[in-house]
Amino acid sequence: MNKTIEQIKEDALKEIEAASDSKKINDLSVRYLGRKGAVTQFLRTIASLPKEKRAEAGKKANKTKKSLDKAFKEALIQIETRSAAIEDSIDVSLPGRIVNHGSLHPITQITRQICDIFSRLGFAIAEGPEVETDYYNFEALNIPKNHPARDMQDTFYISQNIVLRTHTSPTQPRIMEKQKPPLRIIAPGKVYRCDSDLTHTPMFQQVEGLLVDRRVSFGDLKGILTTFIHQIFDDQTSLRFRPSFFPFTEPSAEVDIRCVMCRGKGCRVCSQTGWLEIIGAGMVHPAVFENVGYDTSVFTGFAFGMGIERIAMLKYGIDDIRKYYENDLRFLRQF
Ligand code: PHE
Repeated sequence: MNKTIEQIKEDALKEIEAASDSKKINDLSVRYLGRKGAVTQFLRTIASLPKEKRAEAGKKANKTKKSLDKAFKEALIQIETRSAAIEDSIDVSLPGRIVNHGSLHPITQITRQICDIFSRLGFAIAEGPEVETDYYNFEALNIPKNHPARDMQDTFYISQNIVLRTHTSPTQPRIMEKQKPPLRIIAPGKVYRCDSDLTHTPMFQQVEGLLVDRRVSFGDLKGILTTFIHQIFDDQTSLRFRPSFFPFTEPSAEVDIRCVMCRGKGCRVCSQTGWLEIIGAGMVHPAVFENVGYDTSVFTGFAFGMGIERIAMLKYGIDDIRKYYENDLRFLRQF
């Protein structure tokens, strides 16, 4: 028995629905609407129908033809947009790309902590050049040419009058030449000495401190440094001030802290002494004030300098300073 036009339509729609690619849709379209297609053949049979049924059947068949034609076109569009979407889309099953995060070098972290503590104490941050003149590195600091104190600092000379600064102290006269007292500055930066072993690298970093005002005393120096040490280590860390010598301070002191490793019992880090030497300090020498034109009858001040790597080594328990500069990521990633 021949299929009715409704059955043909129903079958065609089912097959369109099941078709998964455009080739199958095109084949179906030929099978239903092509010259020998089911719908075309049905149309041909209409001529043999009784006259009164022809018009009605013709209408139905043409309507079916149109709606199937539309269904094929729509199915093609759908299949095409679906495959384009798959091509463009993100494959969520792929492993993700690793994003490497940078981080601050441990010495930079400690420098920032030191600067933060002194900022809260009212110190402004300053900087000076690493390639320095003999004048600022030595002479302005009361270290004349041929003075034996130059021996303490294994200097890299660029030329007779140009050096790589051996300490951050040249920032003292540089700032004072530009600024009138009172002042409080902290100056971190790189310094250079011809020295290299477990506890020395040819380049290392210091922080310089300088405070100048009326009636500044050695007691103020002790107060500021004690506050600083209590904040950078902890408030159980005691300090001692030993008499020392620097040409640019008088009196001068070497500041020791109770060994943060053994708490004073004596260990390898403190060479069994229970103390660690970490800061050089003193009252600014009048000769330095005179070099920058400060009135020594009105102003006094104190200065101090410390090695940043040394503080970082003690804080993190690192025994070889060179580790900070070998750029071994396994080391650096720990901070
Ligand atoms: N500049 C001295 C050094 O490098 C440290 C210091 C700074 C001492 C300021 C006294 C005052 O050893």
